[in-house]
This record gives sequence, C-alpha cells and structure tokens, in this order.
Amino acid sequence: MSRTFYVTTPIYYVNDVPHIGHAYTTILADVLARYRRLFGRESGDTTYFLTGTDEHGQKVQQAAAKRGIDPNDAAALRAYCDGYAARFQEAWKDLNIGYDRFIRTTEADHIAFVREQFRKLQAKGFIYTQEYAGWYSTTEERFFGEDELVDGKDPISGRAVEWITEKNYFFKMSAFKDRLLAHIEANPTFIQPDFRRNEVLGFLRQPLNDLCVSRPKSRLAWGVSLPFDEDYVSYVWVDALLNYVTASKAGSPGDPNAPEWPADLHLIGKDILTTHAVYFPTILMALDLPLPKQILAHGWWLIDNARMSKTTGNVVSPLAMKDKYGADAFRFFLIRAMAVGQDASFTEDDFVKTINSDLANDVGNGLSRVLKLGETFGSKLEYRPADSVLPGTARLAIEGNKDVFSSLKFPRLEKTVENALTIFKGVNQYFEAKAPWKLAKGSDADKEELETVLWHAAEALRIGFTLLHPVMPGKMDEALAALGLTAETSPLEWRTSGTFSLTSIPPLFPRIETKKAEGASTGSATSAPSDPFAVLDLRAAKILSVDNHPEAEALYVLKVDAGDAESRTVCAGLRRHFSPEELTGRIAVLVANLKPAKLRGIESHGMLLAADGIAVGVDGRPPLHLATPEGAAAGDPVSAAGIERAPKAQIKIQEFDKCPLVVKNGQVHYGEKALSTPKGPVTAQAPDGAGVH
Ligand code: MSP
Repeated sequence: MSRTFYVTTPIYYVNDVPHIGHAYTTILADVLARYRRLFGRESGDTTYFLTGTDEHGQKVQQAAAKRGIDPNDAAALRAYCDGYAARFQEAWKDLNIGYDRFIRTTEADHIAFVREQFRKLQAKGFIYTQEYAGWYSTTEERFFGEDELVDGKDPISGRAVEWITEKNYFFKMSAFKDRLLAHIEANPTFIQPDFRRNEVLGFLRQPLNDLCVSRPKSRLAWGVSLPFDEDYVSYVWVDALLNYVTASKAGSPGDPNAPEWPADLHLIGKDILTTHAVYFPTILMALDLPLPKQILAHGWWLIDNARMSKTTGNVVSPLAMKDKYGADAFRFFLIRAMAVGQDASFTEDDFVKTINSDLANDVGNGLSRVLKLGETFGSKLEYRPADSVLPGTARLAIEGNKDVFSSLKFPRLEKTVENALTIFKGVNQYFEAKAPWKLAKGSDADKEELETVLWHAAEALRIGFTLLHPVMPGKMDEALAALGLTAETSPLEWRTSGTFSLTSIPPLFPRIETKKAEGASTGSATSAPSDPFAVLDLRAAKILSVDNHPEAEALYVLKVDAGDAESRTVCAGLRRHFSPEELTGRIAVLVANLKPAKLRGIESHGMLLAADGIAVGVDGRPPLHLATPEGAAAGDPVSAAGIERAPKAQIKIQEFDKCPLVVKNGQVHYGEKALSTPKGPVTAQAPDGAGVH
C-alpha cells in the first residue's frame, strides 16, 4: 500500500529576513522530499513537505514595534507579517524549494485549531492557574528559577531578566514525564542523532516543571487568545508547535491533500530541541494524539568558524549567494558541506572551491566531453555492449543512496551527494583510461570503440544526473535535456539498450576564477582613516539603461554614469521591485569602489543602495526604496556628516557591511550621521529603522 511521508521544517519567526540557517533546514527538507519522490516512483509513495512562518509572540511584536507598529494595532501587525511571510515565500521560490504547504500561524484555521486544543486540554484537567513570581527573560520568552540563572542573567541568552509576579495558566507537563522517558527509551530513533537523544534523556532524568502556557495580554497582546480567558494569549511555542498538526488531516480534515497525523520527520536546528522533544510530545500525549516518528536536530552553520550574528555583521544571505553563484550550486554546497547533525563552517572560499572541483571538474566536465566527441556521430549515440566498470559504479551509487533512507538511523544527505559524485569521478577515470580523444583520430574500428565509450559514459552520467536531481533540480534538468531525457523519463538503473540524442549546451558549471591579488589600495596618502565609513566611495549615479540579466530572474543589468570617463555595468537585484521605466534616468547612490564581482556571468562594477520596505507592495512584491541623492548630478560624492572621505581604490563587501545604513525621518543615516551630497540630503521613502543595503 502506498503511503505519504510527512516532513516539516521549523516555522520561522518573521523578525528577520531569511539567512543561511533558515535556508539550510528548508533546502534539507526539499532535497529529502525530492529524494523520497525519486525513490518512491515505483511504490507510488508520496511525500508532503510543510514549512511556514511563526508570526505571534514577543519577538515578532518587538520587531514590529521597532518599525513603529503599536502592539495593539492588529491590522498593522498583520500587514507587517504579510510582508515578511512574502519574503520567505519569495526566497524559497528563488532557491527552487517546492513545499506542499506554507502555513502561517496567523491563519484563521490555525488559530481556531489552537483554541480548540486549549479547550480540550482544559476539559481534560491538564490546565490550572497559578499566581507565579519568577525571573522573566524577554529574549527567551520564559521564566527561569533563581537556581537556573547564571550571574543573575538569563542562562541561554546571557541577557538581563526581570522579576515578574502574575497569574498564569499552566500545563501539567510533569504528569507526562515518565511516559515520555519510556517512549524515548523504547524508540531509539525517535530523537536523532544519538547524542541529542542522550541530551534529552539526561534532561528528563531531572525533575520536570509544568509549563507556563499563557501570557497576559497586558504584557503581550500579539497571540492566540485563550478560549477560556480572553485576557490571555497562548505562549508562542504552544501556538507554533501545533502548526504541524494543523496542517495534517487532524487539523485540516477538509483539505484533500493534507497528510495523516503523525508526521514522519520534524527537521529542526539543535537550539530548538527541548521545545520539540519535550514540550511538544507531552502536549500531544495530553491530547491523545500520536507522537511524530522522528525529530532530527541538525547543527549550526558557523561563518568562518564564528557564530553568525547580526551584531558582528557576518550574516550570510542565501539570496546574495544565489545571485552570485546560482541556486543549484548553493543548494549543493549546503548539503555537501554539512554532515547532518554536526556544525559546519561556511566560507565563500570553500564554496567556490567546491564549485570548481566537484561541479566544474567532476559533474560538468564529463558532459562537455560526451557532447563534444558525440558530434563525430551526428550527436546520436547507439548502444553497443562493452566491458566497463561503469555499470557497477552506478549500481553501487544507486543502492548507496537508497540505503541512506532505509538503513541509516536518520537521513544523511551529505552521503547521497558523495555517492552520486563517485559516478562522475568514475566517468573521468574511464575517459583517462580509454583516451576517447585519441580514438576520435583513429581507424574505423577506433571510431566504433569511441561510440561505445561515449554511450557508456553518457549512461553513467545520466544516472549521476538523476541521483543529483533532488539537490540541483534546475541544472540537472539542463544536463538530462542535453542527453535527450527528463528526470521523469530517466530510470534509476543501468540500461543495456537505447539511443542518446545529444544537444550541445554551454558548460553546466563554468569555473570561477579566483584572483589572489586584490586590487592595490591606493587610497589617500594620509594615515589610515579611523572611521570605516571613510574608505567607502559612495557617489551619485545616473541610471542610463536597464536590461534583464539573461541568467538571473531577479537581476537587472544596468548601465550607469557615476562620473567616470565611461559608463559602468552594474547588476542589481531590482527586477522584482521596479520596471525598467521606473529606473531609467533616475539618480541613485552607487558604492563605486566595491570590488567587481561576476554575477551569473556578468561583471558588476558597484552596487546601488536601496532601503527595505515593510508591507507587501502591489502584486505581492516586497517594496524597495532607492536611496536618492536629492538634486545631485552623476559623480557627486556622498558623505556622512563629519567624516572626511578617504576612499580606497577597492573595498570588499565586508568593509561595506561594517557601515550599517538606516533610514531616519526619510533620510539615510550612518549611525547618527546623515548622508548627503554637496547638493542636498540622501533620502529614501522607507519607514524609520529600515535597513539600507
Ligand atoms: N519560530 C521558531 C521555530 C518554531 S517551530 C514550531 C524559531 N524560529 S527561528 O526563525 O528563530 O529559527 C528557525 C531555525 O533556524 C531553527 O531551527 C534554528 O536552529 C535555525 N538556525 C538559526 N541560525 C542557524 C545557523 N547559523 N545555522 C543553522 N541553523 C540555524 O526558532
């Protein structure tokens, strides 16, 4: 009987734009869902993939308040959430992520479901009220016992706590402790990896407190009201965790596609293990609902071996990476470079090295050779039997990948990639051994041998591309099409018949040139400037023409006049936000000395500055507002009040990132310093607090 595999990601807080951490779990879920679909082709098994946004609670209310939104203005908060949810949806689309449902906790059906569960919990006697006094952390949104504090501070975030006395509703979590312990002991794969399972077991062997599941509206207005006391809202985690059930048949009985409850796999990051492995199962037990089959906690991406944080400014944007190197290469790197469960470090250098070695050398090279040499046969390759090591290599890779899902305790997708790569390495070795380029120049018998070699290489590549399709659906579609196939028509076994009809395509993964020598820094003759802003060369620039980037949906290729001898080419991610007419002729602000970078094949000489909007714009596009130097002409220098300009010849993006720009009263500021040209202020029609980048 066929069945549906139900996999989820965490739902993300709408207080931040998507970063590499969000992207990782979501890509992991997408790749896994696609593998399950690939291997489920024969059995008819299907997969349901849920992701979404977590829109209530203190974090979101606070983030909105920073944008000037009143916590009691539900309509404004909703609009704020709409804007962020749209950003997550857009990002997932850009990264080729095909979820089945995007759930938002502010949806009416979810709110109704959460209220219903509170009613049930109360009717069953698992909810009680208590006057509670304790140390409350707004960062973690929870109380801590005196003994839990570290140096009088929140032990998790290290931030200050406040003493609060209030009445609240509690869930009798402690009543389920023994049952949960027994369940984890009896089901060794319920929590994975093993070391995380042991952590939870250790936690549960200590006394377990009941869970405070309400927040008084006087303190937090933005949440799901409790059905039995409208002066309170649900603790955000109860609301959030239930999303997984809302999306299933148990919560959406009218949705014909909804999967059965329980879920098969909750993918999460290690920091949210307790909420998923302790709070959630005990709540489910109290509601008489079955527990999910598996909770899998992955590690964290460190950036250059340091913790990613907004304060240090080392946050990696998945969309910037995608614009620069393509969505497929980024997906490949994230899956290849992190062993599921462990932490991993992201550096752009490693990413580029992986593109050049695994993708350009191994995956792309074999195809280029087959396509080129195949021209000898009018780009058609007929099957002829041969003694080759390739069928065995391909079979091993296929079986290895099936095993990742059937015999390991949890799916380790880095292994599926490694397995698939053995095929491409095998093809390269086969070519080295057979030297087809020599055969091409030889006798008729050599030509026959050449066709045999090429057919076998093409067959191995076909299987390799099919096995990598879940990781890089876009590029692998292109590769299979060049062999005359589609992912759907490419079987997962070695064939001993068939013709390949080849179509030439440009290299799948062009090598990325890595220039070691940085542009010499001429700068000014004076000593190093003290403020990091001084080295930036910001200038007024006139947009002369606007064309679509041929390779990247989100990018325009602009010609701009920045007062140089010649106009410059700038690639800008403005395509979703402005029509060419809206941009042509406008004066904007250009970071003119940014090291040129190739964006999907086109070299960009600088970057235009724009401010984030918050609400959703017309037709769902998140608005962006160009920074505008009022009254300025092309080339006019932009400076920050009181900082002398001393631009370097060239800067790295990290140097620009050291100077966060923000909108205040409609004017772009660096800290407290307003930006202007000699002709007037630099403005942006964005709300206060909007970031400019
Ligand atoms: N809203 C809650 C989840 C509720 S699920 C019912 C939440 N949201 S979050 O947006 O803050 O974080 C979501 C996920 O991002 C977590 O799984 C977290 O582990 C992950 N990551 C945040 N930074 C990360 C890295 N640097 N690396 C990998 N994942 C990281 O928590």
